[in-house]
Amino acid sequence: MPPTLAPVRSTATTDYYQLTMQSAPAQIIPGFATTIFGYNGIHPGPTVYARRGRIVVVRQINALPDVHPTLGYRCTTSVHLHGNASLPQYDGWAEDLTPPGFFKDYVYPNEQPGRTMWYHDHAVDHTAENVYMGLAGFYITNEGPNLPLPKGRFDIPLMIKDVLFTPDRQLLFDAGEEDKGLMGDVILVNGKPWPVLKVERRKYLFRILNASASRAYRLALSTGDPFTFVQTDGGLMPVPQSAAEFRIGAAERYGVVIDFARYPIGQQVVLRNLDLKNNENFATTKQVMRFDVTAEATSLSNNTVPPVLTPGNSAGDPMLLQPSQAVRTRDWQFKRRREAWSINGEFWDSGRIDADPALGAVEIWRFQNTSGGWFHPIHTHLVDFKILDRNGRPPAAYELGAKDTTYVGEDETLRVIARFTPHRGRYMMHCHNLVHEDTHMMTNFEVGKGGPSPTSVPPTQLPA
Ligand code: C2O
Ligand code: CU
Repeated sequence: MPPTLAPVRSTATTDYYQLTMQSAPAQIIPGFATTIFGYNGIHPGPTVYARRGRIVVVRQINALPDVHPTLGYRCTTSVHLHGNASLPQYDGWAEDLTPPGFFKDYVYPNEQPGRTMWYHDHAVDHTAENVYMGLAGFYITNEGPNLPLPKGRFDIPLMIKDVLFTPDRQLLFDAGEEDKGLMGDVILVNGKPWPVLKVERRKYLFRILNASASRAYRLALSTGDPFTFVQTDGGLMPVPQSAAEFRIGAAERYGVVIDFARYPIGQQVVLRNLDLKNNENFATTKQVMRFDVTAEATSLSNNTVPPVLTPGNSAGDPMLLQPSQAVRTRDWQFKRRREAWSINGEFWDSGRIDADPALGAVEIWRFQNTSGGWFHPIHTHLVDFKILDRNGRPPAAYELGAKDTTYVGEDETLRVIARFTPHRGRYMMHCHNLVHEDTHMMTNFEVGKGGPSPTSVPPTQLPA
């Protein structure tokens, strides 16, 4: 369990936090010190548990070295709270950079329904290296109304990522051929390789995040039993869904309940990766982690999955949108051009706006993967969307909830629907394969006119 971040101070309306990005040794492989970059020097960074309706201010201090020790780039940063409808100047715009020796205060109002978010680096050209080095942490807002879902130590965030090591046990950054991406051969969960969790005979909620640079997983339990899905990227689903396996691309989050009461004490349940398609290093990546059932339940409160999770009346809920409400459809093609990954044949340019939805407008966006044999997890900043269909068919059961990132597979066409709210301004949409993102598989849209500039709150230099 990553540690919880405590506020440095609180007022009637606001909780103030502080995080320091720094290089630090981590013991990933027993007996070896691996240099990582981490928020407060750890990977995953500490978890922020925020309350809906209370403002959070996070002071992000960049205390990284001036240049990366082996890759040689300058360690400027930008922090994105993925899943949050941030104002443009606090959204981690790729060119809103905080250099080493500077800090920036990010302000988050927490007005959206509760959800599992994550904060991670978003610096132009070096997001992949920075996140791979460890700059990622959870930020979770409470769900209220108070449902009897597993809570406390039975509500566990799991950050999955794959890494490669050099012979002297340092992180190796190798973006692969044709920039398909970085495919590691060691699977880390919350920073530990192939860990084991001892569990009681009761239900647990796991908030699963794929924080890998590039790899997608198809997850299943070794027992073949189904997962019960209760959350997607945007928080609680309308109703729970059941599936025995699911695909999770980079940056997607699913909240799943596993009921270990089915199993006798002594049973081992392996969380497996069945992805045979993107199978570099498959032998070492087919186990993700293991659950060992070791005890009877010490508590059976909050041990229920209610049949209805959200009443379906929260303003702005994309699950209520119908195609007839859309004022237009936009097409987005994800394809190879000039030996690189492009969106509609273009590469990112911070000054170019490729879509201009009006504030409050409902639009359908069509995501078309014509890249031939490779997949792209596509992420829209600011808005949650509902997946209408994938290749003309309904989405998978586990995708029947609000999303901000979706797996767009080989030769797939998806239609998603969203309302462009609540802020005016310029935001990014991009492939969350971070290697693709860094080679500018990214575009900008501007909601309404006259929003604040995403670089209007510059960083502040630390006193010497
Ligand atoms: Cu998770 Cu634009 O990022
Ligand atoms: Cu991509």
